[in-house]
Amino acid sequence: MPKVVVLRWGHRPRRDARLTTHVALTARALGASGLILANIEDEKIKETIEKVTKNWGGPFFFEMGTPWKEAVKDWKAKGGIVVHLTAYGENIQTSDMLQRIKESGKDILVIVGSQKVPREFFSEAFSDFNVAVGNQPHSECASLAVFLDRLFEGEELKKSFENAKVRIIPQKRGKKIASL
Ligand SMILES: C[S@@+](CC[C@H](N)C(=O)[O-])C[C@H]1O[C@@H](n2cnc3c(N)ncnc32)[C@H](O)[C@@H]1O
Repeated sequence: MPKVVVLRWGHRPRRDARLTTHVALTARALGASGLILANIEDEKIKETIEKVTKNWGGPFFFEMGTPWKEAVKDWKAKGGIVVHLTAYGENIQTSDMLQRIKESGKDILVIVGSQKVPREFFSEAFSDFNVAVGNQPHSECASLAVFLDRLFEGEELKKSFENAKVRIIPQKRGKKIASL
């Protein structure tokens, strides 16, 4: 399985706090190894995500403040590819782009926006693939979830997390949590 890291661009403190937290939780729960909050620092979100990882397991890293161009450059220098999730991209259902991504066998940096993203994101210099989860505008959280689930073909949902303090015991009804 390729290593996947999510780069969250355009976070607006306060306004995007809940959504960025959900992007990070989705990334962690659906098989990504970490999230980079580009260009900006938000201690509250870092604290929340690190607390979740401490209790529910990892590994999952949260990095913040890294300029996005630097993050992309580093990733490419290490041999990884960059996937930009955008409603304007190649449709994940009607094109063969997902197959091409999988066949590359390379680690993947997934960029999700919030507000309107810079034009450069679409260019060959930055994104290897512009991927649309349907060509309708919706949400960074939804597009990330669908992309990861299709990339990992559902296997990520069986993943067990390391060093967890608690784990949910699935039930038909009610809630059961085991302390480990
Ligand atoms: C709420 S949208 C805002 C997009 C912004 N209005 C623009 O034109 O770039 C925030 C992010 O959700 C993701 N997104 C929204 N719809 C998408 C889709 N259909 N496919 C893939 N990603 C999508 C993209 O990463 C986008 O940057």
